[in-house]
Amino acid sequence: MANATLVFFPFPLSFVAMESLISKIEEIIATAKLDTADSLEKFRLDLLSRNGLFTELFDQFKAVKPEEKKRFGAQINQLKGRAEAIFKEKKEELEGKNSNESHGSIDPLLPLQNLKAGSRHPLRLVLEEMQDIFIRAGFVVEDGPEMEDDWHNFSALNFPPNHPARDMQDTFFLDEDFALRTHTSSVQVRVMERGELPIRIIAPGRVYRNEAVSARANCFFHQVEGLYIDKGVSMADMKQMLLYFSKEFFGQDAKIRLRPSYFPFTEPSAEMDVSCFLCGGKGCNVCKQTGWLEIMGCGMVDPAVLESCGIDSEVYSGYAFGIGVERIAMLKYDVKDLRTFFDNDIRFLNQFRAIG
Ligand code: DAH
Repeated sequence: MANATLVFFPFPLSFVAMESLISKIEEIIATAKLDTADSLEKFRLDLLSRNGLFTELFDQFKAVKPEEKKRFGAQINQLKGRAEAIFKEKKEELEGKNSNESHGSIDPLLPLQNLKAGSRHPLRLVLEEMQDIFIRAGFVVEDGPEMEDDWHNFSALNFPPNHPARDMQDTFFLDEDFALRTHTSSVQVRVMERGELPIRIIAPGRVYRNEAVSARANCFFHQVEGLYIDKGVSMADMKQMLLYFSKEFFGQDAKIRLRPSYFPFTEPSAEMDVSCFLCGGKGCNVCKQTGWLEIMGCGMVDPAVLESCGIDSEVYSGYAFGIGVERIAMLKYDVKDLRTFFDNDIRFLNQFRAIG
């Protein structure tokens, strides 16, 4: 039977195996979609690697009759050349595409060396901590322009036409119409004018004052403005919110007190003190033996301000507050000179790395 099989099979086995391998390879070359690195690698493994089909093909080739070798040899070499050329072309195409998209000539696989992570600026740390507390209490963060007109910075906030705060000494005027905002209270006006009620916002940001730079004052600094407007908001709501903030920020033992004050845009107005978190209220150098630290200005939004911004003051009421970020950061991190925050001395900034 074994002989009979050979009689009906005119070609040696290796010849048949080669034909089928060649057509298999041709089919792979014709149908492979080489558009990803994975598909290209599969192509290489299937055809060109040590265990690929071409190795198998060359193994079979060794067993072919000498007279057939020439014909097959040329065909196989040509086929292999084609597969290699396709592989090379597609590889270059893919690499080119990746480098255009993201890395350019940078090798993304190189290990990082001596890469020192930066730290967040102490003012940002304080700001974010404050922000988080108010966000948890339902406030949303608003933003406003640093270049403001007279209306949003002064007039709508009930500053009389000849109020000293409009004076050249305090305000950086840019031209007849615009100035750098002197406080974040301007964002209150912008939010109220939108007419969407109730309002519960905080507006952190940079403000500018035309002041001589010293250890205690700078020509720019940061504030966090707060505004809450709804039906029936009272001063008790304000006090409760500010107490909550103080306990969250300074610790659960914190106490607050409100002292009467004056701002054109609030009535009544107050300064809020928090019990000194360094001495616990007993009196120390930082609180100048008073046991209290002045933290912010606040008050009930003056009805005239509500009306200026198109809100019916018979129906709505609200409170507002403004916190100085630098002041809190100086107290918290025991920074004696305000200018340190803006020197960008990395010996200072590096001290916040563990926190930031
Ligand atoms: N805008 C005030 C300032 O820059 C701070 C302030 C006080 C803001 C009382 C308020 C407020 O919203 O109610 O000194």
